[in-house]
Amino acid sequence: MEKEGFILEIGSGSGEHGVVFQKRFPEIIWQTSDPDLLHRKSIISWIEYEELNEKMPQPLELNVENIPWKIPLKLAHSLQGIVSINMIHVAKWASTIGLFKGAGKLLKNGKFLVLYGPFKIGDKHTSQSNYFFDNSLRMQNEFWGIRNLEEVKNEAKKNGFFQEYVINMPANNFLIIFRKVSC
Ligand SMILES: C[S@@+](CC[C@H](N)C(=O)[O-])C[C@H]1O[C@@H](n2cnc3c(N)ncnc32)[C@H](O)[C@@H]1O
Repeated sequence: MEKEGFILEIGSGSGEHGVVFQKRFPEIIWQTSDPDLLHRKSIISWIEYEELNEKMPQPLELNVENIPWKIPLKLAHSLQGIVSINMIHVAKWASTIGLFKGAGKLLKNGKFLVLYGPFKIGDKHTSQSNYFFDNSLRMQNEFWGIRNLEEVKNEAKKNGFFQEYVINMPANNFLIIFRKVSC
């Protein structure tokens, strides 16, 4: 990864992750986003609390399903990658489709899209706790649920990404790194 430019975080939620990443990687600019106003207010509070106002931009209002994404030109020009943590299983499948479609249009070849969270592999849960978690998600919202990695990979492929790494993370989560290879 080039050690400058912007990282765009999709579905930043409260903003706690965003400020941690910004402090850990001071050479890049961490651009948070969320479609939810309450979450964007929380992100603003975290940025202020951590005294990062001069470094971190205000969160963008971004719903990945609304293509094309409205992104500031400066960000689009020096965008190094996109990160989305715990988003696609707590959103409609249309959001996964929108995420890859929007990222595919925005990212230049060689840039990355990173997903973090639980996944089914070969349409099977990787742990019993993920099975229970999936059921609880579906009870909250019939359109939510842990995604099957092969189907996610298929959306990636349709939009010019290949799956570069699948990394096991604690608590039955995965870090999936996709790389943009074609427009
Ligand atoms: C479970 S929260 C995760 C928040 C944060 N990334 C974390 O790990 O704590 C899911 C987030 O995805 C956002 N989200 C849901 N649908 C979305 C969409 N279509 N486009 C962008 N973000 C979305 C929600 O507003 C919420 O902030």
